[in-house]
Amino acid sequence: MGKAPMDTLQLSCIQIAIALLLLTQTESTIDDTSTHPDDPITNCIATERTALLAFRAGLSDPANLLSSWKGDDCCRWKGIYCSNGTGHVVRLDLRGPDCGSGVWSTQALAGNISSAMLGLQQLWYLDLRCNRFNNIQIPEFMGSLHSLRYLDLSMAQFTGRIPPQLGNLSNLRYLNLETYPYDSGTYSTDVTWLSRLTSLEHLDMTFVNLSTIVHWLPVVNMLQTLKVLRLPFCQLRSSPDSLQISNLTSLEILDLSINNFSKHSRPNWFWDLTSLKYLDISFNGFFGPFPDEIGNMTSIVELQLSDNNLVGMIPSNMKNLCNLERLVSSRNNINGSVTELFHRLPSCSQNKVHELFLQDSNLTGSLPDTLIEALSNLNWLILADNRLTGHVPVWLGELTKLTMLDLGYNNLDGVMHEGHLSRLDMLEELTLSGNSIAITVSPTWVPSFRLRIIQLGSCQLGPNFPTWLRWQTQALTLDVSNTSINDMVPDWFWVAASSVMFLNIRNNQIT
Ligand SMILES: *[C@@H]1O[C@H](CO)[C@@H](O)[C@H](O)[C@H]1NC(C)=O
Ligand SMILES: *[C@@H]1O[C@H](CO)[C@@H](O)[C@H](O)[C@H]1NC(C)=O
Ligand SMILES: *[C@@H]1O[C@H](CO)[C@@H](O)[C@H](O)[C@H]1NC(C)=O
Ligand SMILES: *[C@@H]1O[C@H](CO)[C@@H](O)[C@H](O)[C@H]1NC(C)=O
Ligand SMILES: *[C@@H]1O[C@H](CO)[C@@H](O)[C@H](O)[C@H]1NC(C)=O
Ligand SMILES: *[C@@H]1O[C@H](CO)[C@@H](O)[C@H](O)[C@H]1NC(C)=O
Ligand SMILES: *[C@@H]1O[C@H](CO)[C@@H](O)[C@H](O)[C@H]1NC(C)=O
Ligand SMILES: *[C@@H]1O[C@H](CO)[C@@H](O)[C@H](O)[C@H]1NC(C)=O
Ligand SMILES: *[C@@H]1O[C@H](CO)[C@@H](O)[C@H](O)[C@H]1NC(C)=O
Ligand SMILES: *[C@@H]1O[C@H](CO)[C@@H](O)[C@H](O)[C@H]1NC(C)=O
Repeated sequence: MGKAPMDTLQLSCIQIAIALLLLTQTESTIDDTSTHPDDPITNCIATERTALLAFRAGLSDPANLLSSWKGDDCCRWKGIYCSNGTGHVVRLDLRGPDCGSGVWSTQALAGNISSAMLGLQQLWYLDLRCNRFNNIQIPEFMGSLHSLRYLDLSMAQFTGRIPPQLGNLSNLRYLNLETYPYDSGTYSTDVTWLSRLTSLEHLDMTFVNLSTIVHWLPVVNMLQTLKVLRLPFCQLRSSPDSLQISNLTSLEILDLSINNFSKHSRPNWFWDLTSLKYLDISFNGFFGPFPDEIGNMTSIVELQLSDNNLVGMIPSNMKNLCNLERLVSSRNNINGSVTELFHRLPSCSQNKVHELFLQDSNLTGSLPDTLIEALSNLNWLILADNRLTGHVPVWLGELTKLTMLDLGYNNLDGVMHEGHLSRLDMLEELTLSGNSIAITVSPTWVPSFRLRIIQLGSCQLGPNFPTWLRWQTQALTLDVSNTSINDMVPDWFWVAASSVMFLNIRNNQIT
């Protein structure tokens, strides 16, 4: 297996590293975001102060984040913003320390949410993301905070039924109910309440269990102002063929990944949404061809199609997608020539394609002899686990913006030399393992890149220990196993390799 940086479900080392990084950032986001604007002194309304104190009394606050919640002027307390016109509390920003990677800080707020909060009737902004209300439900009374325009209850470890009372929040623009798989989970068995949120622009229900709901799309289609719809991991099963009349003319971001639609790739309602900039239908069991309708989605910037059962070449009209920056279609059965695929990528006046992920797609043939214009701005090129043959062409060396090149586990051969590599100043990952490629460079060559991931297993590097590795002092992964090295390990190697977390030098004649 080559490396699949963005499109596997498993936690990669990188994600874990990020999680650890976040864990050590103990500084509270509540502190970071609640500095008060230099507005004139506003006096807190006494009934609202009482409401806030009752709200606080229900919370558990192990790190004493709300220590500033004392004194008369509640408008100066952490996380609270008052209107300088009326003095009413209008924003409550109690977002916990970042937990996006599934690591919650022990500093987060927990406990119960008191209905005393209803004393804040002018509240239009409420953010409780990344706190730890484990095992309580989202309170029904939140549906009575009628002024709310922004409500973020995501990643806050709520459980149980999403209260349909939220449908009373007719002013909502933003609603985030995302949860995390390790939580005991929230669910809804009837989402008709959503149809009353007629001003909604952003809806995120990631991981909310919607498995019993069949007719979810007609409900969503009532939301004419919707721009962002995220429903990944919702256990949805029905994807209608079409919306006879689509209200979703403003929709730009649609994430339906990791549901279980298991149906033919066409017809499907979402192909008609020509306003879309981002579409993710990965991991859904769609089968059949890559539909021609894709070529009509001329606003699309990012297409995520991985891990379905799509078969055959991408449509030739994808050339029209002049805004496409990112195509991610790993583990579909393209079963055809890589050169033909490259020729079907958009090459408009200004090439925007930056990232191509086409791992494990049964791509065949050799890489083209000359640089295809559509590839000229690539940052990431991932073609691992295909059936590519032939030499690695020297035009790869002209892709000077490349940061990631993964050609691992194909049947490539031939020689790569300085001409392939010396202009790739920005390269961070070079994966060529599992081919028969020889890397033949001068022993005095000093690469301009500083790689973090070097995977060259079973390539031909020896017999001398490759001296260019001396300059790769930032590598985290270094695999030069089975590379015909027959040499002593030079002293500099242990200095160069001191940052390496994964090292493989097996199957060589190293002394
Ligand atoms: C509130 O105060 C801010 C900062 O001083 C000011 O920019 C804003 O115009 C004021 N708003 C009202 C409604 O007075
Ligand atoms: C939250 O409410 C439950 C049940 O009413 C109670 O047992 C628990 O002590 C409360 N937690 C806090 C922090 O007040
Ligand atoms: C709020 O919504 C619930 C259920 O959707 C409904 O029964 C109730 O009458 C609504 N309450 C108000 C105050 O609008
Ligand atoms: C989702 O909800 C359904 C029906 O309530 C239930 O059978 C299923 O186990 C739930 N799925 C998960 C992953 O909790
Ligand atoms: C479109 O949205 C409006 C307003 O929510 C609604 O009245 C209408 O029925 C919707 N149209 C369809 C086809 O759902
Ligand atoms: C997906 O749905 C099919 C039937 O439509 C079912 O057999 C299968 O178990 C489901 N898979 C998951 C992961 O829920
Ligand atoms: C693409 O859009 C054009 C113009 O609206 C339409 O005639 C054509 O049928 C569409 N193609 C597909 C494959 O949907
Ligand atoms: C590639 O093709 C083989 C048969 O030739 C098939 O077994 C395999 O599933 C295909 N790979 C993908 C990702 O579809
Ligand atoms: C893959 O392509 C080969 C040769 O073009 C063809 O014989 C085979 O049927 C294709 N496999 C699939 C699953 O389409
Ligand atoms: C070592 O590399 C050769 C080709 O260079 C390959 O045939 C062989 O399978 C590789 N061995 C291992 C254990 O990977």
